[in-house]
Amino acid sequence: MLRASWRADRLRSAGALVTTGLIPVTRPLRAIGLGVFVDGVISGDHRRMVTGVAIVAGLTGVNRMLDWASLTIRMRLREHTILFLDQKVMELAAGAPGLEHHERPDLQDHMELLRIDRGYLVNPFMPIAWTLASVIQIAVTVLVLARLHPVLALLPVAGVPSLLATIRVEGMREKVRRQEAERTRLLLHLLELTTEAPAGKEVRVFGLADELVRRHREVFDDVERAQVRFNVRSALIMATGWTTFALGYMAAIAFVALRAVDGALSVGAVVITFSMGAQINGQLSELVANITWFSRTANAIGRFRWLQKYADEAEAAVTPRDPRPAPERLRDGITLDDVGFAYPGTDVPVLDHVSLRLPAGSTVAIVGENGAGKTTLVKLLCRFYEPTHGTIEVDGTDLRCFAIDEWRARLAGGFQDFARLQFVALESVGVGDLRHFESEPAVVGALTRAAADDVLPSLPDGLATQLGRDFDGGVELSVGQWQKVALGRAMMREAPLVLVLDEPTASLDAPTEHSLFERFAGAAREAAAHNGAITVLVSHRFSTVRVADLIVVVAGGRVAEAGSHDQLMDADGMYAELYRLQARGYG
Ligand SMILES: Nc1ncnc2c1ncn2[C@@H]1O[C@H](COP(=O)(O)OP(=O)(O)OP(=O)(O)O)[C@@H](O)[C@H]1O
Ligand SMILES: [Mg+2]
Repeated sequence: MLRASWRADRLRSAGALVTTGLIPVTRPLRAIGLGVFVDGVISGDHRRMVTGVAIVAGLTGVNRMLDWASLTIRMRLREHTILFLDQKVMELAAGAPGLEHHERPDLQDHMELLRIDRGYLVNPFMPIAWTLASVIQIAVTVLVLARLHPVLALLPVAGVPSLLATIRVEGMREKVRRQEAERTRLLLHLLELTTEAPAGKEVRVFGLADELVRRHREVFDDVERAQVRFNVRSALIMATGWTTFALGYMAAIAFVALRAVDGALSVGAVVITFSMGAQINGQLSELVANITWFSRTANAIGRFRWLQKYADEAEAAVTPRDPRPAPERLRDGITLDDVGFAYPGTDVPVLDHVSLRLPAGSTVAIVGENGAGKTTLVKLLCRFYEPTHGTIEVDGTDLRCFAIDEWRARLAGGFQDFARLQFVALESVGVGDLRHFESEPAVVGALTRAAADDVLPSLPDGLATQLGRDFDGGVELSVGQWQKVALGRAMMREAPLVLVLDEPTASLDAPTEHSLFERFAGAAREAAAHNGAITVLVSHRFSTVRVADLIVVVAGGRVAEAGSHDQLMDADGMYAELYRLQARGYG
């Protein structure tokens, strides 16, 4: 925690340390000033009186200044640390090589709790200083009591059960929070459905408003019930702890009082035990509160570490021991050999015994029903996941032998669930190739290659137009236009070895898609002659698909058929049947 604060803002970290540390020092010094003054009064020494007053007044001023400076510095430090931690989370979340943490519910829970808990990570000095202060206070009290009678030093021991109880309750709270994380996400999801644009139309057409609110309340009530259960249980546990202490306290007073009756101890000792004992009670509560604070912070750090570890392990898992340079051109092609795959955290194979050869320089179309495994196949080619079985080889070299960044640099892609990057148009397209992302000719070239240049005239400031309504002056695009921007992005890299287009044209009309793919296929053939590039297109439109060199029909996670259009029509299997069906339908 201190390290994060230090890295986020050294100057203010040092400032916070000094000011927070000096404040407690000025208080006892003031007492010394008061002593000097009183001495001066008693001995009639005017100089000492003035010195004493000056010390007290000066230190009071210094104390105020320090209070103010400490608060100001800590507030800025807090902002900087939050920024630092957010950026670290961004780096880790976006830097992790795979998609698992975005797609697995348990990992998403972790991410959500990390987001909520990061507030506990940002003010390192207070919990540290306060916990130390509590410990010192208790130590002083124990010393005072021990001087009255050594047995009394045992009084704080009676407080141990309540300490343990607190630790136990914190553990329970953490467990409840983990269990509730998914429901908390559901609450957020329901809130977003009603407050944000994407679901707005369906919410109205289906009259879902009341139903969504009802569900929200239901989930909330569930969460609330779990909270109440937790509160009752924790109250019982805490009560047991405090009762033990109360018994110890009573025993201590009885012990001292009996000795006072015998004359072994003074009445003053009884009074001291009475008040000090009561103080211990308060001091222990404070210590417990500080420990609670600490343990929440520790949990938040734990989650942060988890993300760090997850990202490191994910990175290590895909880093080849003996890396080979990724090829500059494809000679033979990509071969999938008996590839099987189940998403992490599940054991249902989504791909099973997939063997396939994608020849260098070819355009490959993947077709199949919804959920057949097409996108999953594309994800494996992009190495978002590793096959659970079998191998993918590129010109005879296992894909896992390439450094992942190098392989990704050879790819370009347009995806089914494309991103809507709300930047200015130039950047929204240009980030497809960071080397040229501010180059207007490169961006216009990419849009032209993607047959998406017809988006330009609808942008009031051309490529300088801010896209998206989340920002002032931003222009909202139609779904198809957003998709064209995404396609333009996919076309920014001019000579990728593998271009994956996973239904990138689903929002475009059929003739546009068709002419687009013909254009891609033409460009791909040219590129193929140059670097053996492979274009992989996933589509449901058979009229588009037929121009591909190789058509792969995926069904239930397996390759049902593969071949050219003519071969598959001759074979008169699944493809031929679906093709005829669509041809009739589209007339
Ligand atoms: N992140 C995920 N975690 C677990 N299972 C998943 C995940 N993504 C997809 N699946 C499952 O994998 C199977 C194949 O999904 P995939 O997205 O590859 O289908 P698809 O062929 O691309 O379908 P579509 O035509 O609808 O795009 C589906 O049964 C789906 O439920
Ligand atoms: Mg898909």
